[in-house]
Amino acid sequence: MYTCLTLRVRNLITRNIITKSFYRINYSGSLNLTMESSKIKLSERLSSLVRPTHYNLFLRPDLKTGHFEGKVKIDITTKEEKNYINLHTKFLDITSVKVFKNDEEIEVVKYNEIKQIEQILINFDKTLDRGVYKIEIDFNGDLTQSFVGFYLSRLNNNRTMVASKFEPTYARQAFPCFDEPDFKATYDITLVKPVSYVALSNMNEISSEPEDNGKTEIVTFATSVPMSTYLACFVVCDFDFKQNEINTNGIGNNFILRSFAQKDQMHKINFAQDIGKRATEFYIKYYEVPFPLPKLDMIAIPDYVSGATEHWGLITYRETSFLVDEATASSINKINVANTVAHELAHMWFGNLVTMKWWDDLWLNEGFASYMQAKALNAIEPSWTTMDQFLTKTMHSVLVTDAKLSSHSIVQTVATPDEITAIFDSISYNKGASVLRMLEGFIGEENFRRGVSDYLKKYKYGNTVTQDLLSCLEPYFRKEYPDLDIFYIMDTWTRQMGYPLLTVEKGDDVNQYVITQKRFLLDPEAISPNDTEFKYRWFVPITYTSSNGPSKNITWFPDAKEKVHLTVEEGGNWVKINNNQVGYYRVNYPLDLWQKLIEQLKAKSAQLSISDRSHLLDDVFALAEARVVPYDIALSLSSYLRVEEDYVPWETAASIFKSLSDRLANSLSDNLNIYVQQLVKPLYEKQSWQKTKLGVIESLLRTRILALATRCQLPDAEAKVRNMFLTWLNSHDTDNIVTIETDLRDLVYYYGMKSATHQEWDKLWNIYLKEEDAQEQTKLRHALAAPRDTSILRKYLTLAWDEKNIRSQDYLNVVGYISNNPSGTALVWEDVRTRWTELVNRFTLNSRYLGNLIPSITDSFNTPLKLKEMEEFFEQYPEAGAGEASRRRALETVRNNIKWTDHNQASVLDWLNNHQQL
Ligand code: BES
Ligand code: ZN
Repeated sequence: MYTCLTLRVRNLITRNIITKSFYRINYSGSLNLTMESSKIKLSERLSSLVRPTHYNLFLRPDLKTGHFEGKVKIDITTKEEKNYINLHTKFLDITSVKVFKNDEEIEVVKYNEIKQIEQILINFDKTLDRGVYKIEIDFNGDLTQSFVGFYLSRLNNNRTMVASKFEPTYARQAFPCFDEPDFKATYDITLVKPVSYVALSNMNEISSEPEDNGKTEIVTFATSVPMSTYLACFVVCDFDFKQNEINTNGIGNNFILRSFAQKDQMHKINFAQDIGKRATEFYIKYYEVPFPLPKLDMIAIPDYVSGATEHWGLITYRETSFLVDEATASSINKINVANTVAHELAHMWFGNLVTMKWWDDLWLNEGFASYMQAKALNAIEPSWTTMDQFLTKTMHSVLVTDAKLSSHSIVQTVATPDEITAIFDSISYNKGASVLRMLEGFIGEENFRRGVSDYLKKYKYGNTVTQDLLSCLEPYFRKEYPDLDIFYIMDTWTRQMGYPLLTVEKGDDVNQYVITQKRFLLDPEAISPNDTEFKYRWFVPITYTSSNGPSKNITWFPDAKEKVHLTVEEGGNWVKINNNQVGYYRVNYPLDLWQKLIEQLKAKSAQLSISDRSHLLDDVFALAEARVVPYDIALSLSSYLRVEEDYVPWETAASIFKSLSDRLANSLSDNLNIYVQQLVKPLYEKQSWQKTKLGVIESLLRTRILALATRCQLPDAEAKVRNMFLTWLNSHDTDNIVTIETDLRDLVYYYGMKSATHQEWDKLWNIYLKEEDAQEQTKLRHALAAPRDTSILRKYLTLAWDEKNIRSQDYLNVVGYISNNPSGTALVWEDVRTRWTELVNRFTLNSRYLGNLIPSITDSFNTPLKLKEMEEFFEQYPEAGAGEASRRRALETVRNNIKWTDHNQASVLDWLNNHQQL
C-alpha cells in the first residue's frame, strides 16, 4: 500500500509543479493559491503555528556521480487546524511524502512544489487537529549545480569532497525543512561516506557502521542542541586534522578544537588553530557562558562562495581565510585569517546560541561578530592595535555608503531570499559593529560585557530582536544615565539610515562652543526626505579632547534639541570632538578651528591619538567632497602627513589619495602623485626593501608606505619594484628561483606587472597555473590584472572564464581586479553587459557578489554618457535579484561623481599645482 501511495504521489508531483501563471502575487507579496475547495494563502514566511521540534536526517552523497539521496523525518507540533502543511524545499527531487500521527499514517492527497516561494505544499483530505505529527520525506538532489546548499568541491588529482553552506536560505537545497531562523530544533544526523574518508557534522560522531561490503560507512552523530536550520553542516572529505584542548577555566568542561586540511596542507593550519584556541578561550571568559557543544571543528574548503560560515561546531572557511603558509603568507594574510577566525568563533554564542528571530535583525549577528572579532584580537594580540584598525577596516568605508540616499537602516524589513542575501552588507556588518562600539563607548566596557553575558544566559537556545539585547544592557545603562532611555537612543541609530554631521560654532564665552546637527549626505544637493520617526536626527553622545586631554563625561545631544552647548576647560585654544571616532558621526569646525587642529597635527600633539588623526583625515576629506569645507582645508590638513609615522593614519591617507586619484583619472593625477611623493618620502626613506624582521604593525606600516610610494610613482620605489620583479620572474627560467619577501609579494608582483609585455604576462600566468597555495594564487591573480596594456587584460578576461583556469569562487574577484585597473574598466563594462545572461546563469541573481560587481565596475564613472549606459543596461535587465540595492547605490555614486568633477576638480588641481614643493 505504501508503495502505491508513493507512486501516485510521485506522478502528481511531476505533473503538478505549479508555474508562475497559476497564481497571482498580491500587493503584500503573498500568494493566493486557489484550491478546489478552499483558498490557501501562502507567502515566503511559514506559519509560526506549525513548528519543527526534531529532525532525523539521513544523507548519502556520492562523491563520484555528484548525486545525493536523503531521507528526513521531522517531528512537528501544530497549533492550528489545517488541511495542509507547507515547508521549504528547493532543487530537490522529492520521491515520497508521508505524514504520521502516533505512528499511524495520514493520507497525503497530493503534494506540490511551489517553486516561486521555494516550498512544498502537502495536502490532506481532512483537517488535521492540533498536535504532534511526523513528516517523512524521501528525496534526492544534485551536488554539482552550485556552491551553496549541499555541494561537491573539486580537489587535486580528481579527488572530490562534499560540504554544505546553508546561510541564509539554502538548507532547503539539502533537505526539506522549516528554513527560518526562529524554527530551532534538535537534529540526529547520519551521513554515508567512503570508508577512507571522514564525515563531519555539528556534533561528535557516536557510531560508524560498515555497509556495501565495507566500501562505505554509515556515520551517526550525537543529537544536537536546538539550533536553526542555517547552522546545520555536513562534510565528507579525506582530510587530516590537528587538535588542541580548550582550557575553559572552569566555565564548562574542557573540550577539543580540531582544524582540518588536505593532507598536503597540514603545515598551514597552525596559525588559525592557535588563534582559534586563544579566541575561544577569550570568548568563554568574556561571555561567561560555556561553549555549548562537546567539540569544535574548523575546516578549509577549496570551493567556497564567501569567506567563512559559523556552522555550529563545524566552522567552514575559504582556503585563503584559514590556511597560512609561514613561508609565503604576508602579515596582511595573517591578520585577515585571524579576523575571520575570531569573527566566526564570536558567532558560536552570539548568533548560534542566541539567534535573531528573523533576518530583519541580521545586524545582531553580523554587527556583533564584526565588533567582537576586533575586541578578541585586541585582547589576544594587543600589539596589533586592532581597535585603531577598526576605523580603516570597518568604519570609514561604511560612513561613505551610509552618506547616500541609497543606504538603508540597520534594522530592515526583508522577506524574500534575494532581500535576505542583500542585507549581508556593510550596513549590517560595519555600521552594526560601529554602532555597538559607540554603545560600548558610552555604557562602559564592563557594563557592556555584563549586559551581553546576561543576554546570552537569558535567551540561550532562543531567538531575539534588537530590543531584547537592549533590555539586557538597560540596567547597566540606567546606572550611568538614570534620566535617559537606551531604547530611544539606539532606535535613532538602528531604525533610520544615515548619520549626523555635527557643526561646531564658537559660543559667547572663550571656551564655549555651540553644536548643531544635520544629516550628512555626500551630495550637497540631495534632498533628505523627513520620512522617519526621528526625522533624520540622532541622539548623539559627544566627547571631546582639548589641550587638557580627553573629556571625562559625555555630553548628550538629544535629537529633539536644536543645539547643545559645550564648555571646555580653561587653557586650551583648540578642541577636537568625538574621541577616537567612537561616535558614528562626522564633525565640522569653523575655519580657524580647523587651522588650529592642523597646527596640532603638524606639531605631533600628544593629545591627538592615532585614531583621532585618522578620524580628522577621514572627516575633512568627506566634508570637502560634500562641499561643506573647501578642498584647500582638507589638502592642507593632509600635509601634516610629512610628520606622521603610524600605520592607521597612513592607511586612511592611502585610501583618500586612491579615491582622489581615481577621480582625477590618469591624465590629471600627475600633480597629485608629486604631492603624495613629498608626503611619503620622509617615512619611505626609513623603510627597508630588504628582508627584515618586524612586528606585525611595523610590517603593515612598511608595506603600506612602500606600496603608496610605488603607486604614486616615486622613481626610486618604481625602479626597485620593477627590478625585484624581473629578477624573480626571470629566475623561474633557472634552477635557482629567487623568492620575494612575503610582505612585499603582493606589491612587487602587482606593480612589477604594470608595464608587462605579453611574454612576461604569459610567464606569470604559467607560474599561476602551477601554484598550489591559495593565498599565493590570489596575489598572482591580482598581479595578472595589473598591466597597462588592454590587449593583455582582454586575454586574461577570456582565460578567466574557463573554470579549469580560475575557480568560479574567484572569477568575480578577477573581474573586479581588471575593472579596477583604469586600462581594464571599459573592457570589463562591455564584457559584463554582453555576458550578463551567462553571468546570471553561472552565479544566479541571488548572488550578492554578482550584485556587488556593478558598483565595483562603475564606481569611477563620472560622465552623463556612462550614466546613460548604466540606465540602459538596468532597463534591459530589470530583474536585479539580490543586486537591486547595489544598482541604486551605483547610480547614486555615478551621479555624485559627475557633480564632483563639475564642482571640485578645478579647485583640487589648483591647490595641487600650487603645492608641488612643500
Ligand atoms: N554568517 C556569515 C557567513 C555568510 C555570509 C552567510 C554571507 C551568508 C551570506 C559569516 O559569519 C561571515 O560573516 N563571513 C564573512 C567573513 C567575516 C570575517 C566577515 C564572509 O563570508 O564574507
Ligand atoms: Zn558573520
